[in-house]
Amino acid sequence: MDFELTDEQRLIKSTAREFTDSEIVERSRENARNHHFDLEMVSKIASQGYLGAIVPQQYGGAGLDYLSYGLIVEEIGRGDSSVRTVISVQTSLVCSAILKWGTEEQKQHYLPRLCAGEWLGCFGLTEPDTGSDAANQRTRAVKTDAGWLINGSKMWISMGNYARLALIFAQTEPALGYKGLACFLVDTDQAGFKPQPIEHKMGLHASDTASIALEDVEVAQDGILGEVGDGFKVAMSALDSGRYSVAAGCVGICQGCVEESVNYAKQRQQFGRPIASFQLIQAMIADMVLKTEASRMLVWRAGWLKDRGRPNTLETSVAKLHATEAAVECANAAIQVHGGAGYVDDHPVERYFRDVRVTTLYEGTSQIQKLIIGRAMTGINALVPTP
Ligand code: CAA
Repeated sequence: MDFELTDEQRLIKSTAREFTDSEIVERSRENARNHHFDLEMVSKIASQGYLGAIVPQQYGGAGLDYLSYGLIVEEIGRGDSSVRTVISVQTSLVCSAILKWGTEEQKQHYLPRLCAGEWLGCFGLTEPDTGSDAANQRTRAVKTDAGWLINGSKMWISMGNYARLALIFAQTEPALGYKGLACFLVDTDQAGFKPQPIEHKMGLHASDTASIALEDVEVAQDGILGEVGDGFKVAMSALDSGRYSVAAGCVGICQGCVEESVNYAKQRQQFGRPIASFQLIQAMIADMVLKTEASRMLVWRAGWLKDRGRPNTLETSVAKLHATEAAVECANAAIQVHGGAGYVDDHPVERYFRDVRVTTLYEGTSQIQKLIIGRAMTGINALVPTP
């Protein structure tokens, strides 16, 4: 593997860094304080080509490689995880699924609107009683003369209150288990689609999260991604992209923790000298750097594999597991370096700490990533009883 970024990739990274510093950072604290989902920012990131960066230009995307996409997501993640969530969900969970599984007509209809930020999309997999066990969908889809009727509920759906398009996973034939699942392209502009904001989250206050009731939601005959029965694979392949994006965002948080801690430690004086001169502070910074660099390399490796069309589910899980856990630890350590100042939102580390906690939960918990890795290593699926 070549560790040298191309000139174009370096430019993409530095542009994303400048954009983050000039446009995102200054609004992030106020948006978090006001629990404000910033639609103006959605337009700005769309104009930058950051929604659907990996979508080919013919469908309105930027036509970038996965590594470049990861570089953008890292920089945005350093600025604000709520903005990063918009990019991750829209690009990885929604656009990548349509790109991989959609018909030509579906691609032409949805992708340009999503890449332009004209429409937001959401990914309706998780349910109140179906989290890690994603195959066990309770939401039902019944065939009608006109198409499909869907009833059920979804939970923890990012952008569910704003999405114009919802990918809704539902069971069409319970006896078939995961082979009965389908992924429906749901137009949210209908009475039976009922989202509700989820309030009082620990972090990601500027990110929209919904629970959704689905009451006789109508989908046309052709409103399915892939075939009936492909739903589980649609979900898992989208999560291969989503987990990569979450991991890249967490590299950004790690990097932000390093930079904020170094700056603060050089300014903050105690015992007549900057705290950066104390070995115990330097040890914390060194640990953060180690975690940041290792996470970044794992994300780059997963991106490198994706760009070559090679299998990467295992490597993506390794990157997601490592980067999210590392970011939680870095945010905790960064607050320690800041002392009391890190406990209020004057410094970004307070927000990093609250925002990062969900990353080891969503898009597959750390425990699920370990089971995916453990299964790949041993050949034994720990989720089914051994005979
Ligand atoms: N790509 C394509 N196909 C895949 C795949 C992948 N990455 N992984 C598995 N499959 C296929 C398998 O090949 C298999 O197909 P065949 O029957 O043809 O062989 C089929 O899917 C079933 O695979 P498994 O036996 O591995 O399925 P499982 O039930 O054992 O999966 C699991 C277990 C990996 C734990 C899975 O359920 C899982 O990832 N759970 C976590 C769910 C998750 O991440 N949820 C987060 C939702 S998104 C979110 O958080 C909301 C938001 O808005 C941010």
